[in-house]
Amino acid sequence: MLTLLSATMVCPTAYAATEHYNDSSVTGDAEEWQAYKDNWENLSSDYTKVSLTPGKDETELNFAWYSEKTDSEGTPVVHFGTDQNALETFTGTVGDVDQSLTGDKAYEYNYVTVTGLQPNTTYYYTVERNGEQSDVVEYTTKDTETVKMLYVGDPQIGASKGQPQDGGELSDESGAANTAAQNDGFAWNRTLNTALEENPDINFVISAGDQVNKTGEAKEEEYAAYLGADALASLPVATTIGNHDSLNPDYSYHFNNPNTTDYGKTAAGGDYYYSYGDGLFIVLNTNNYNVAEHSEAIKEAVAAYPDAKWRIVTIHQDIYGSGLDHSDTDGMILRTQLTPIFDENDIDVVLQGHDHTYSRTKLLYGDGQTHSSYEFQLTEDGMDYDWDHAYNVETGEQIPLYPEDGDEEGAALKDAFTEDNMCYTIEDTEGNTVTDPQGILYMTANSASGSKYYELIPTQQDYVAVRSQNWLPSYSVITMDADSFTIETYQIKDDGTVESIDEAFTIEKTGDASAETTDGAENTTAEETAEEATDDAAATEEAADDTAATEEAADDTAAADDTAATEETADDAAATDDAADDTADDTAATEEAADDAAATEETAQ
Ligand SMILES: [Fe+2]
Repeated sequence: MLTLLSATMVCPTAYAATEHYNDSSVTGDAEEWQAYKDNWENLSSDYTKVSLTPGKDETELNFAWYSEKTDSEGTPVVHFGTDQNALETFTGTVGDVDQSLTGDKAYEYNYVTVTGLQPNTTYYYTVERNGEQSDVVEYTTKDTETVKMLYVGDPQIGASKGQPQDGGELSDESGAANTAAQNDGFAWNRTLNTALEENPDINFVISAGDQVNKTGEAKEEEYAAYLGADALASLPVATTIGNHDSLNPDYSYHFNNPNTTDYGKTAAGGDYYYSYGDGLFIVLNTNNYNVAEHSEAIKEAVAAYPDAKWRIVTIHQDIYGSGLDHSDTDGMILRTQLTPIFDENDIDVVLQGHDHTYSRTKLLYGDGQTHSSYEFQLTEDGMDYDWDHAYNVETGEQIPLYPEDGDEEGAALKDAFTEDNMCYTIEDTEGNTVTDPQGILYMTANSASGSKYYELIPTQQDYVAVRSQNWLPSYSVITMDADSFTIETYQIKDDGTVESIDEAFTIEKTGDASAETTDGAENTTAEETAEEATDDAAATEEAADDTAATEEAADDTAAADDTAATEETADDAAATDDAADDTADDTAATEEAADDAAATEETAQ
């Protein structure tokens, strides 16, 4: 109980992960789960898995992999081609991995770009590690006129730590002792295999961030489990830097992203972009709050590929989502700034994660009004961000996101912040196919691995068209050609079968410029519904308070009930609570993490 109380004091306001997670010992095929566990010692200690990333366009493919560092020169070489007996040699670059992230063992990371790819062609490749070629892997390109993508959220390998399994509890210790990573790695593999079985013609995957869990710490076993998924040897993934990825360079060693920019940087890397079929894909690192930099990255991307039919942005934090933990607080911190920038650059779709719930918005664009800019700032000791307070960039004002009961001044500041974030207009559209809309579609993906789930926010925001939380791993399939962009979303049931959780939503483009603007008079600005919205917000807060209180009460009850191991439960509840709020508050933050965070902050200024 004491531990519970102190945890509550340390983290009085943030919401917590729920008791729901994907338990691979239950959902996994028994034989496959046993085989995975038997191999876990090997898998978790193999940091050298190949990671494929889309190249700067569909004719290129980027490779990254670790090799052990020896006295000899590194060999960043990929052998690639259609004739596996006569593969062409592609050479790239090599760099040193920070040894503090690999248990002091010396590794190098290898980057190679392969060029000249044709659609619908089968290739073979090997990579070199210290001059030795790996086994041959087959890789087949798909159609590039109709492009199919898997869109996934927060695999967050290792986030199930603290959850029960087989009478014990999942741990996030290092190496093979990270049984949470074992559980989540298996689940991630299952989701990808299931999605590919249903959709064998997927070109590549878009992951909206939080590939791994241990923020600011060494976590190679989590990357090993992430990259160990069978499908990823021949399936490129365009990853996004989530808050759990952001504070170390290990992300950048593992993912050889195309067209990297100097904008939006944190220790993990910055904004990047690529062209694929008719789409321009722009991936922003919104853990850096400097939106002027993200704006520059978008402009650079648009200038590089001005004729793309579709402009798709991926960000981790959901500026328009519907999860309890983030959507009305830290997730929307950049909403007032990003909304007009996305509008100006004719972005069509924004793919988000972070809130471990599913939501699809109505079509949204800005309200043309002036709004303040907001950001997070580091805590006094510089070890982490102060997630409980937003800061007004212009005035420096500190806004409590979870004002305590009776804190009227704080509540007023929070209300003003909420109101300022009603900075959008809801486009008036009907049905699930829209043509030449002015507004932008914002999607939030639930967790693809099921390592952690959040509650939905009690009152559905007016901008949300559809949302759900069914406590099951899920994925979306995006089909894009020159005229249409369709998104469909599925969840995987415990028995492994798949079911749809939302109707297909399609945006069509006629190429008729006059159709670009819809009838503005029909549309609803957030301001117009301000009164209603304020009521809703009040109701939401009240309901959220209730939920928080209920959660706390549930914790207490659980601890009191569990006579066998009250203190242990409390410890774990505390540990889960602390880390599971999905901010970077896995505060075993090392000095290095603090340095990184400081650097991040510096960049963000
Ligand atoms: Fe996450």
